[in-house]
Amino acid sequence: MNISELKTIAGNLMAGDKGLLAMDESTATCNKRFEELGIPQTEEYRRKYRELIVTTPRLEECINGAILFDETIRQTTADGVRFIDILKEKGIIPGIKVDEGTIPMAGFPGEKLTEGLDGLSKRLAEYYKMGARFAKWCAVFTIGANTPSSTCIKANAYLLARYAALCQEAGLVPIVEPEVIMDGDHSLELCGEVTTEVLHAVFNALYQHKVDLGGMILKPNMILPGTQNSYQSNTEEIATATVNCFMRCVPASVPGVAFLSGGQPGVLASERLNMMHKKFDEAMPWALTFSFSRAIQQPALEYWRGKDENIEVAQQMLFHRAACNKAARRGDYTV
Ligand code: 13P
Repeated sequence: MNISELKTIAGNLMAGDKGLLAMDESTATCNKRFEELGIPQTEEYRRKYRELIVTTPRLEECINGAILFDETIRQTTADGVRFIDILKEKGIIPGIKVDEGTIPMAGFPGEKLTEGLDGLSKRLAEYYKMGARFAKWCAVFTIGANTPSSTCIKANAYLLARYAALCQEAGLVPIVEPEVIMDGDHSLELCGEVTTEVLHAVFNALYQHKVDLGGMILKPNMILPGTQNSYQSNTEEIATATVNCFMRCVPASVPGVAFLSGGQPGVLASERLNMMHKKFDEAMPWALTFSFSRAIQQPALEYWRGKDENIEVAQQMLFHRAACNKAARRGDYTV
């Protein structure tokens, strides 16, 4: 592993006022979103949609890196240009989701483990050769009456750390994504407590597996009340709880924190990121930015609906949300 190269990549991913675009939905997730909108669930429509995204004019003004899925990294435009080459041409660093999704955790009803370590080194070597320079692995935690259990937290932290160590060995910057899901009726405070426990377990595992924190990015959830909680905290409460949690749990040597959106409406996700910068910009030791999928893509996907005549406007909508989040990273976002 060449740690200085990893640090350079991580620094480039977090540079300036830009963020990351997650476009790494698995085939099943992408098909589910297509189904809701009546878009044919075929490889060709997934290809068309990803072509719409990567060819969005001026995307590179807001986006430093794009996370692809295995199917997508191998696909091309209708004219035969590889998506990965289009991104590189624009100066957007290509990344790749390498986890293979979640399975129910035996003995722990309602909890999940992330799969994908078997054969991972070989896959990472192939992705590196194709031009990917960073990777992503997501672990999910659900807040319920007895969850997440400490066994589930420890097991997923171990998997994240093994993945991160293998990425660094292969020359890819690992994005470490522990996601505390926002479904549920829990409070903002409980989300903060669970996220704190998860982050401590993850950073402990990263230390034990000798992951260099200077060559990784953290992709966490914001601290939010459960979607079914009757009290929905305001933007300032969420920004304060989120930054306070990360200030306690994320070492200063980590170059950047890039949020997942987790199903938050796009405008709210931008407002919350914006407030974190407005209130805490000076205090934070790491870059704080976005790595959204739905909060950038959703309006564009809903407008496109699989129709060629809608591509241009859908691309403008995609650019708009990316630009809103770029403004939020400066604390300059207004609805
Ligand atoms: P959301 O921003 O939609 O939560 O997605 C994040 C992500 O990593 C998707 O693969």
